[in-house]
Amino acid sequence: TGLITLDLGYKNTGATLSDITYLDGDKGELFYRGYPIEQIAEKSNFTEVMYLLLHGELPNQEQFLQFQKNINKYNYVAEEMKKILDAFPRSAHPMGVLSTLTSALTAFNPKAVNVKNKEDLDHAAEMLLAKFSHLCAWTYRKTLGLPLNHGDNNLNYVENFYKMTFRMPNQDFELDPVVVDALDKILILHADHEQNCSTSTVRMVGSAQTGLFASISAGVSALWGPLHGGANQAVIEMLEHIEQDSGDVAKYVAKAKDKNDSFRLMGFGHRVYKNFDPRARIIKKATYDVLNKLGIQDKALDIAMQLEKVALEDDYFVERQLYPNVDFYSGIIYRALGIPTEMFTVMFALGRLPGWISQWKEMRLHGDPIGRPRQVYQGAQQRDYVPMESR
Ligand code: CMC
Repeated sequence: TGLITLDLGYKNTGATLSDITYLDGDKGELFYRGYPIEQIAEKSNFTEVMYLLLHGELPNQEQFLQFQKNINKYNYVAEEMKKILDAFPRSAHPMGVLSTLTSALTAFNPKAVNVKNKEDLDHAAEMLLAKFSHLCAWTYRKTLGLPLNHGDNNLNYVENFYKMTFRMPNQDFELDPVVVDALDKILILHADHEQNCSTSTVRMVGSAQTGLFASISAGVSALWGPLHGGANQAVIEMLEHIEQDSGDVAKYVAKAKDKNDSFRLMGFGHRVYKNFDPRARIIKKATYDVLNKLGIQDKALDIAMQLEKVALEDDYFVERQLYPNVDFYSGIIYRALGIPTEMFTVMFALGRLPGWISQWKEMRLHGDPIGRPRQVYQGAQQRDYVPMESR
């Protein structure tokens, strides 16, 4: 079997060849299909980014409209799926509900599972892009005990999601362009990030030729964890905690540096970025814009800024190259937009969906072999079975 290289956490092991996303952790740079994230975040929109990630090129007008039309064809979810939603307690975590419902989509759309070629694959992708946004909206409505809303084909992808999520019964509904713009930007910034934990999970599950919906459901579960997508929820909880503790930032910085204390500054540090996370820079600016435009003053933002300042000047953080990551500021925007804390990771999932699907598609079209890491065995050597009465 040859020599096996042990690489815990795959810190240094390339698992695939990919054409989708490039990131340079030392320089703090990120590109989707070659386009710098700064340009994409400023000039593009989430629907266009979905197309770019899936197809490799920016769409022309005709391709864009056709793509939107294809997604709109599936802008509904089978009525029977609502029964599964109903069976969950209201207290269920939205990420658990989302993962279950995503997997359940398979049963109601069996044709989409049986992909044989690129056309089938694109078809399944468009179907999932449409239906997943419903499921994300449903998890929110479920938490609040609200009736579900239908999709609206007169709106773009982000507006449609926003309306399905936030339209209250018996009330006029108006889209707030500030909110829609901010959501669009956040979703773009989360859309892909090469072989992170959830994306690797999606590719690994799919490498057994498991269907798209079941593979993405596994990705949702991976994203749920606090060291991955769950960090955005952990950040805002930490900022609220510091605020309630009379805003004593220095105390928490000291705790984070204390090796006898398990506390870490959430939203700081990254496996790959050893420089400022370029997404954090963009989100930071968007956070100011949103708070200004909505006329909101948020103490959590003051605390976040103080933490950032300390971390950028303190030897502990400088030596370990711990910079704010994408999740550091996103929670403050979500809170300003009235999105409940438990929904933060669902928002991340909605943003990451086109990345997961594109990586799954790439894996299948490249014909990657089934994922099957090896191990270094360190258990018992051969020994003889002992009958129970002799143990
Ligand atoms: N606060 C205090 N110390 C830290 C932190 C932190 N947030 N992050 C890392 N360190 C220290 C760590 O104690 C270690 O110190 P030493 O060398 O003295 O033992 C050193 O920095 C290296 O850390 P590591 O844990 O070996 O690095 P890693 O690459 O295994 O972990 C990480 C990366 C993101 C899990 C980690 O930095 C962390 O736990 N950060 C907080 C959680 C967080 O914000 N996660 C979101 C990541 S971005 C979104 C996403 O991609 O999901």
